[in-house]
Amino acid sequence: MSGSAGVTGALVLAAGKGTRMKSDLPKVLLPILDQPVLYYALRALEKLAVEGAVHDTAVVVGHRGELARDYLAAEWPGVIPIWQHEQLGTGHAVQIAREWWEGFDHLFVLPGDVPMLTGATLARLAEDHKKEGADCSFISFEAANPHGYGRVVHSGGGVSIVEEKDATEEERLLSEVNSGVYIFKVSSLLPHIYRLSSENAQGEFYLPDIIKMMGREGMSVRAVAEGREDEFRGINTPAQLAEAVALIKQNIVEGMLAGGVRMADPSSVWIGPGVAIEQDVHLEPFVQIWGSTSIGAGSRIGPFSVLRNMTIGRGVDVASHAVLSDSALGEGAKAGPFIVVRDGAEFAPHSYGGKFVEVKKSEIGKRSKVPHLAYIGDSTLGEDVNIGAGTITCNFDGVNKNRTVIGDRCFIGSDTMLVAPVVLGSDAATAAGSTVTQDVPEGALAVGRARQRNIEGWSGRRKKTGSGEGGRNDG
Ligand code: UD1
Ligand code: CA
Repeated sequence: MSGSAGVTGALVLAAGKGTRMKSDLPKVLLPILDQPVLYYALRALEKLAVEGAVHDTAVVVGHRGELARDYLAAEWPGVIPIWQHEQLGTGHAVQIAREWWEGFDHLFVLPGDVPMLTGATLARLAEDHKKEGADCSFISFEAANPHGYGRVVHSGGGVSIVEEKDATEEERLLSEVNSGVYIFKVSSLLPHIYRLSSENAQGEFYLPDIIKMMGREGMSVRAVAEGREDEFRGINTPAQLAEAVALIKQNIVEGMLAGGVRMADPSSVWIGPGVAIEQDVHLEPFVQIWGSTSIGAGSRIGPFSVLRNMTIGRGVDVASHAVLSDSALGEGAKAGPFIVVRDGAEFAPHSYGGKFVEVKKSEIGKRSKVPHLAYIGDSTLGEDVNIGAGTITCNFDGVNKNRTVIGDRCFIGSDTMLVAPVVLGSDAATAAGSTVTQDVPEGALAVGRARQRNIEGWSGRRKKTGSGEGGRNDG
């Protein structure tokens, strides 16, 4: 903890229904790219936590709060949910969380619906606030369209915030608005937070009312004009959500371009906020990259490919229409076109999964190839294995998933059915069209198919008898 700077908590307000969104889901759980609205505020705070500027984070949940609680438990286990069963306003949300924050020196309060807010801006706000020894500092900004925001009113040397619904016509013309992002000295917040009243147009306890109250008592309240307007946009309506998606998408893509990622058509490329891409990577049009995917330098991702939670090494070539998830492609590997890779598959360096191939939960050894039309599931392939077209690992017996193990340098003939569990020693081979149900020793050839017979003169006889079926008159 950072001694003199004081212990700082961050309270994210996310209990509201988001009536204007007209959705059954709580507003903060609606997606922006592949993450919920709430993710973005928490990520900004996480950056501060790493720098030691925030020591604890809680989220006030309420409307369908079990969904927000479950999301936090799954994705942000260090973040504490605090229940506000009745949503009586932003001031009320801070009141009900008192037990959690009263032990801190400073408290950030921010809305859960301001996804473009950055950690850097929060850090500057906290720094200014502490340096000036302020009782409350909040971020205000000039809005091109102030509609819906609380207006910041400067009069008689004091500051107050008037909500849109309570504002006079004159006040509505003001363009300086409240971002909803505050930092309080806890000892100054405590005596005021229960003095808010709900006598206003919405019958709610407004947190911004505290600004005027503190100012009146001669406390130091700072309206800090900071950052770009975009950064503080609230997400209240479907149109604002769509705008935020477009802006965040563009920010991410521009950040990638600046980092040396090339795109022929950046507007068609979608990249989630958790993705990391090294320089010299080429993304073809209509690529989508989601989750915690990382891509190493010099790789190429072909058009219409969709990647999620992938670890892609350096110099990897993914052709078009690859659907890759929760798996890894090692350095110099190649995949696609039209390949599905999923559920923890691992391609070793310089291995290859080709056209119309599905690979699930399997390891493909170095330089091994699965070039065409194959299903490889629950399998381990050694190095330099070659899998013929049409090969299937029959991994499911109706009850259990069983493993197939294929040793180094095995050559699997086309259209082999490998009925798991089955083990092939190194340098083994299978004859094309074999159904392999028993283990194959090292170096052996497995032939598991009916021996071919040729029936001489068959087609001539068929013409005479008029029989359509070859199997009938062959005795
Ligand atoms: C709020 C501010 C406004 C500011 C704007 C910035 C108030 C009264 N107004 O307005 O001055 O310009 O943010 O975006 O604070 N919430 C709760 N519990 C509640 C009510 C709300 O947790 O009882 C949460 C909401 O889920 C939301 C956040 O607080 O994430 C802000 O509430 P919202 O209703 O969106 O406030 P605004 O009208 O946007
Ligand atoms: Ca809002």
